[in-house]
Amino acid sequence: MPSTMLAKAYNSISNWKSYNASPLLTLDKLKKDLKVKNIFYKDESKRFHLKSFKALGGAYAVEKISKGRRHIIISSATAGNHGRSVAWGAQRLKLRCKIFVSQYVSDTRVDEIKKFGAKVIRVKGNYEDSLKECQKLSKKNNWKIVQDVSTKNYKYIPQLTMAGYSIIIKEISKQTNQYITHIFLQAGVGGLAAGIVAGVAKYFKRIPKIIIVEPDNADCVLQSIKDNKLKKIKIKKESIMGGMSCNEMSLVPWQILKNASNCCVSISDKNIAKTVAGLKDKKFSKTSIIGGECAAPGVIALIGLCNNVKAKKFLNIDKNSNILVIGCEGNADVKLYKQLLSKGRK
Ligand SMILES: Cc1ncc(COP(=O)(O)O)c(C=O)c1O
Repeated sequence: MPSTMLAKAYNSISNWKSYNASPLLTLDKLKKDLKVKNIFYKDESKRFHLKSFKALGGAYAVEKISKGRRHIIISSATAGNHGRSVAWGAQRLKLRCKIFVSQYVSDTRVDEIKKFGAKVIRVKGNYEDSLKECQKLSKKNNWKIVQDVSTKNYKYIPQLTMAGYSIIIKEISKQTNQYITHIFLQAGVGGLAAGIVAGVAKYFKRIPKIIIVEPDNADCVLQSIKDNKLKKIKIKKESIMGGMSCNEMSLVPWQILKNASNCCVSISDKNIAKTVAGLKDKKFSKTSIIGGECAAPGVIALIGLCNNVKAKKFLNIDKNSNILVIGCEGNADVKLYKQLLSKGRK
């Protein structure tokens, strides 16, 4: 990831009309329980009005590739949040937009995308099928695809999305003067994690330990790192962590994360509801936090590793640790969020 690309992303996005840095909260109750110095929680539920970090990526890529042109049509395939960001990015620039979703994407998420004026096309099958259909129709109609997944011949646009995500670290470098020692990074195809790592390389003076967190049903980063090659896995059951339920890493993130990750953790769906409710009901912090199904995994992995003496020692997690978890989405799927809250409170 070229350093200038990251700088340009920050300069552009920080000048958008409604831009504010997302809050850097502290999980003060949890830090006492786990006996560490600080636990920072980057609250992406407040990212523009889109409720997830993805607002930084797709919308920025749309701006970059449109280069002021008004006649182009933007397209994308999505599990939800990326498409929402692309649709918003297109609407900001008054561009038409087509978003492809699989049968697994909830109606609530589809409605959120439609709110930004995009046409949503449902495709039978999984995310990969929706991407294939998007590619087919985009080629036929000369629509400009803005995808967050990179392959051998498609790198620039996903890199732009990752450059957008990297501003999370630029913001943190201004929000605290504590040196972060550990970062827990959720991964689907690895775009967020790689964007954050790129940000760390550019903006932090000291390099923290990087811990990748995935659903156990979709642990493509863990399996790739274990075998030292990009691995495509079979998803036997879709995880409740919908945005992270991916069977293969994106290429650029693979090239970054294979060198940058210190540890990979996979977690089950079991503790998601309880953790979502815990965040909301101030179990971890003094303030109430709205964190959705993909925001909880960082907290779950942190608690799990701290409860495992060997793992805790391996990662040097101790009373001097300043840990960062990324609360990457809020109640982006309002209906699912409500269900998780009531299940987690039982
Ligand atoms: C809401 C959401 N979607 C998707 C992802 C996965 O991001 P990526 O596919 O870039 O790894 C995450 C990761 O935490 C997420 O929180």
